[in-house]
Amino acid sequence: MKVLVVGSGGREHALIWKISQSRKVDKIYCAPGNGGIKELAELVNIKADDAAGLLSFAKEKKVDLTIVGPEAPLVKGIVDIFQGEGLKIFGPTKELAMLEGSKVFAKETMQRFGVPTADFQVFDNPLDAKKYLKEKGTPIVVKADGLAAGKGVIVAKTIEEAESAIEDIMVKKIFGSAGDKLILEDCLEGEEASILVFSDGKNIAPLVSSQDHKRIFDNDEGPNTGGMGAYSPAPVVSGEIFNDIIDKVFRPIITGLAKEGKYYKGVLYGGLMMTKKGLMTLEFNVRFGDPETQAILPRLKSGLVDVAIACIEGSLDKINLEWDERACLCIVAASKGYPGSYEKHKEINGLGNVKDGMVFHAGTVSENGKIFTSGGRVLGITGMGKDIESAKLKAYETAGKIKFNGIYYRKDIGDKAIRRN
Ligand code: AMP
Ligand code: GLY
Repeated sequence: MKVLVVGSGGREHALIWKISQSRKVDKIYCAPGNGGIKELAELVNIKADDAAGLLSFAKEKKVDLTIVGPEAPLVKGIVDIFQGEGLKIFGPTKELAMLEGSKVFAKETMQRFGVPTADFQVFDNPLDAKKYLKEKGTPIVVKADGLAAGKGVIVAKTIEEAESAIEDIMVKKIFGSAGDKLILEDCLEGEEASILVFSDGKNIAPLVSSQDHKRIFDNDEGPNTGGMGAYSPAPVVSGEIFNDIIDKVFRPIITGLAKEGKYYKGVLYGGLMMTKKGLMTLEFNVRFGDPETQAILPRLKSGLVDVAIACIEGSLDKINLEWDERACLCIVAASKGYPGSYEKHKEINGLGNVKDGMVFHAGTVSENGKIFTSGGRVLGITGMGKDIESAKLKAYETAGKIKFNGIYYRKDIGDKAIRRN
């Protein structure tokens, strides 16, 4: 069969690496892809959010299955468009992609189905928001309603900080119409974890737990990034907590929506926080996490294509996901300066020295047999081991073999888990 993967990051490289192991798959396309993906798939020069372009490509090439990596095409309705033409595509429809596309929709859905989440208020004008802020005080969390490339959440410690966030979102409109509404939410404290489940609209199949490292510097300092590393499993999610998350967060959402005639198909990512008062849901994403996927998929023994088709066809109850017991850890190597400005087009050396590690490409291009940097997050250098500590050793050993001008990565990926263990 022919598979098309939409996207160009480390997540998409990991998806394609996994799909390429399937004997059922004889051709993989990736739009637009990157320098590493080019080794496994034919790159197609169509942007990830060009649904019409992707549709005509998929029809022309008779693609059997399309898997969407990033959220933007899902929120724009790529699934509805493909389904309308009878093409198989993995992901939720536009209506349910709003679980990520609108924080107001997500919070109201959680509230409707009794899913634990922080108390909140929705505002459609800055005056009311500021009035509530004065009553409520800080710390408080300000969230733009719509998609803001991961920058729409501000954890404000002072009134001034919260007021300027409200001003940026609602008056200066730094995220455009994503700031037509905003949420003010109680600030929670605790350790975070990412839990993802496959869903066919009725049944769910959980993936193994993972944890991301959002800040740029060691010890979780500095600005937020797209994610600087991840590991799986996340020991903060013990077996009991894991079951709780499935029973209190995912089942109510999936079955609650199904009772309303809305069938969530695809992968649903929950950002969870373990607080002193118990489990809380921070957010949903309607796609695989990046870089969580790079730490999860190497542990999946079952075929990804079979699972994706089961989600689409509603037969997930017939699938039994098998997992490698070993731990997996991914270090993101970035360009110096990221998440601010950085230089591009630095040659990457040493990739050929990597024997048993895995290196997932994100911001890379391939030119005349050489690989160059082309983005902020460049590589996801991944290792497996009997526990997080040995996976960490392996990943850092591999990282030591790879060089490019300005390479930067955190040195403490996994340490929180190692301390806990
Ligand atoms: P979200 O996109 O909603 O997950 O928010 C991004 C990040 O903001 C989360 O991973 C948390 O670190 C932080 N965050 C979101 N909501 C809260 C909250 N209610 N309390 C504290 N931190 C939060
Ligand atoms: N790792 C965070 C995300 O994928 O949104």
